[in-house]
Amino acid sequence: MDPRTRLSVNILVSLVMAATVIPVTRTRVLHKNGCPSKCGNLNIPFPFGTKEGCFLNENFHINCSESATSSIAYLANTDFIVTDITMEGQLQILTTVARDCYDASGDQAIPQTTFLSPFSIYNVSSTRNKFTAIGCDTYAYLYGFIGNKSYTAGCMSICNRFEDLVNGSCSGFGCCQIQIPDGLKAVYVEAYSFKKHVNVSDFNRCSYAFIVEESGFRFSSDYVRSIPLDQKFPVSLDWLVSNETCDEAAKNPSYACHQSECYEPVIGSGYLCKCPDGFDGNPYLPEGCLDVDECKIWSPCDENAICYNLPGSFNCLCKGGYEGDGKRYGTGCSPIDEQGFPFLVIGLGVSIGLLVVILSISWTYWGLWKRKLIRQREQFFLQNGGIILRQEFSKLKGPVSAKIFTSEELKKATNNFHETRILGKGGQGTVYKGILQDHRVVAIKKSMIADRSQVEQFVNEVIVLSQVNHRNVVKLLGCCLETEVPLLVYEFISNGTLYQRLHCPGNASLSWECRLRIAAETAGALSYLHSAAYPPIIHRDVKSTNILLDEHYVAKVSDFGASRLVPLDQTQLTTLVQGTLGYLDPEYFQSSQLTEKSDVYSFGVVLAELLTGRKALSFLMPEEERNLAMQFVSALKKDRLFGIIDHHVLAEGNTTQIKEVSMLANRCLRVRGEDRPSMKEVAMELDSLRTMLKHPWMKNYSKETESLLGELSGTNSQSNKSSPSDYDSRQQIVLHGR
Ligand SMILES: *[C@@H]1O[C@H](CO)[C@@H](O)[C@H](O)[C@H]1NC(C)=O
Ligand SMILES: *[C@@H]1O[C@H](CO)[C@@H](O)[C@H](O)[C@H]1NC(C)=O
Ligand SMILES: *[C@@H]1O[C@H](CO)[C@@H](O)[C@H](O)[C@H]1NC(C)=O
Ligand SMILES: *[C@@H]1O[C@H](CO)[C@@H](O)[C@H](O)[C@H]1NC(C)=O
Ligand SMILES: *[C@@H]1O[C@H](CO)[C@@H](O)[C@H](O)[C@H]1NC(C)=O
Ligand SMILES: *[C@@H]1O[C@H](CO)[C@@H](O)[C@H](O)[C@H]1NC(C)=O
Repeated sequence: MDPRTRLSVNILVSLVMAATVIPVTRTRVLHKNGCPSKCGNLNIPFPFGTKEGCFLNENFHINCSESATSSIAYLANTDFIVTDITMEGQLQILTTVARDCYDASGDQAIPQTTFLSPFSIYNVSSTRNKFTAIGCDTYAYLYGFIGNKSYTAGCMSICNRFEDLVNGSCSGFGCCQIQIPDGLKAVYVEAYSFKKHVNVSDFNRCSYAFIVEESGFRFSSDYVRSIPLDQKFPVSLDWLVSNETCDEAAKNPSYACHQSECYEPVIGSGYLCKCPDGFDGNPYLPEGCLDVDECKIWSPCDENAICYNLPGSFNCLCKGGYEGDGKRYGTGCSPIDEQGFPFLVIGLGVSIGLLVVILSISWTYWGLWKRKLIRQREQFFLQNGGIILRQEFSKLKGPVSAKIFTSEELKKATNNFHETRILGKGGQGTVYKGILQDHRVVAIKKSMIADRSQVEQFVNEVIVLSQVNHRNVVKLLGCCLETEVPLLVYEFISNGTLYQRLHCPGNASLSWECRLRIAAETAGALSYLHSAAYPPIIHRDVKSTNILLDEHYVAKVSDFGASRLVPLDQTQLTTLVQGTLGYLDPEYFQSSQLTEKSDVYSFGVVLAELLTGRKALSFLMPEEERNLAMQFVSALKKDRLFGIIDHHVLAEGNTTQIKEVSMLANRCLRVRGEDRPSMKEVAMELDSLRTMLKHPWMKNYSKETESLLGELSGTNSQSNKSSPSDYDSRQQIVLHGR
């Protein structure tokens, strides 16, 4: 095969691979954000911490005692110095030595015992420690508890000549060591002598006993002579996040394994967390596990291969002119034998080359998708119409801004859909705040209902919405299909909902100008949705909670069309449950159908809300005043409009405009859909009213404009010329075409 062909094919593959590589930019951080990472030289990884809020609970509290010259880490509320902490469930502390000493004449110095009972949550590690007694006239006791049962063991060490001691040997001659049982805690150590060291007093005056980490201790004859009073030995303790099993813990809000895997160690009953294969970092921190760049860390590929790091794994690709699996410990890369078939098989070679490429790509994907979890995601992806969606996206001409996110990405972005990230909950699902890897802030909507039969509609939805591009419509950035219910990703709008602005106590009242602008922008957006696409996008759930406000109080219509995700037979139920009754088109109760005019009605309610500052439905009010729409219409009928207008709005004057907007709202709220104006007319009227606000000299036109607009519908009116149109040109083309 022509090496050049292979080279270019390989370059192609490299590009494909490079596109799948997620760059690692974050550095590994083991401690909680804003917490000290160290005490002296000791690293303190979460769940341990030195300050309130830095540790998981009091069991993991490290008391860092800092002075000008040194910092010492104590296990809080004890005087045990901590010298090492691992995230695999070990904690190393220093302990003193129990001793029983005599002078040459055999008089006893004060015997000392050692207690070792930090918290009951810590067991003395049975695999890493040994109980040790040292001396030539010595016996020692080990007491403790296993569960609620007491435990006692002992060790004896005798010798007669110093010269015979053997360094490193603890078999009862000068040194004795025994195993620690599993699960031992509340430990207590004592040392004694048989004959007051009389016959060995020239080289051994004391009996010593202690627990020590085996790897950090080697018996030396020097210990027999004397162990200094301040000598301390390291002891390894076991820790667990809690005594729950993984299954139990996962149901608990305090579950510690955020994006990591939970496991139950062989010894002890409880759980710990670990990063998935190919990742490392701190598994106890949200977003603590990071991809390992295998290529950099252990060069796993042959020298003639290029190494690609992948999330959780890597891939090796032989350079041009070489073949093989590229792995250092696999078949590696060997030069392609070009002598074999000189001219005969160039075509064949190319196809084999392509086959290899295809195989290596599918192999890569197999490698990635091997794990069970991932297979399941794949299934969800298929069920949720991922394939159709991809095909549709590829068919579309022009820019498609929506992206298909992976569930991993969104899990990371929302801290595993953590409660603290919830922005809002509704009948259709929960909205979370998320931060993508490129630091973009997004809102992620998790639908509640997944109905397989709605797949195509959902796909349609995503495609339509991803093409919607209007400054007053919340942008759909993409979706994720790998989860059981599809997730939708929107741009994040920072200033809450119109509902919150209007009806939450403590918010300064919106000015009339601002209200009018929000109304005009919302109308513009709805009009755009009704006309920009075919079939028209009907919002179906226009209400003040679905109008978001950005930092400049620019209105962004959200949640549009999402109700299509709800199976039709459930629409009514959901709508009622959602409590959007106050906005619901009265015609819907007869026809069970929502049309463009239903959106007009709902928008009329929003207008009434803006005018009156009252809620669409308020159960605190007397029965006849509960429904704002009805109340508003009846107030107009009785010529008592100014009685229900928000006094903040009234105080600003503009009575002509208020009247006009009220009339408009009244028309929107007509019971029969065909009597209501179209969204386009509403938008134009509001626009012209706004222009008037900016140019008060136009006030005189107001009456004319209204009557004009009343007659004209859908035609190019005077006001359209005079008002700077916010709409996309596409919208107008569609309109003129009708
Ligand atoms: C921390 O250590 C200081 C001094 O070493 C001590 O006064 C304080 O009580 C300790 N606090 C805890 C919670 O152990
Ligand atoms: C020790 O615990 C077991 C159960 O774990 C219980 O049945 C027993 O009564 C306890 N014994 C004492 C002395 O508390
Ligand atoms: C300590 O030992 C007991 C008894 O074996 C066990 O139930 C417990 O989970 C252990 N605790 C730790 C922290 O290993
Ligand atoms: C000390 O050693 C001598 C002889 O080596 C022995 O006779 C004596 O009994 C020993 N004393 C004790 C207390 O063991
Ligand atoms: C044991 O090692 C110590 C140094 O750690 C040395 O002083 C001593 O002589 C050694 N003893 C024997 C018996 O080798
Ligand atoms: C687990 O620990 C809690 C307190 O930390 C304790 O109340 C409970 O009895 C423990 N359960 C078991 C099975 O040890």
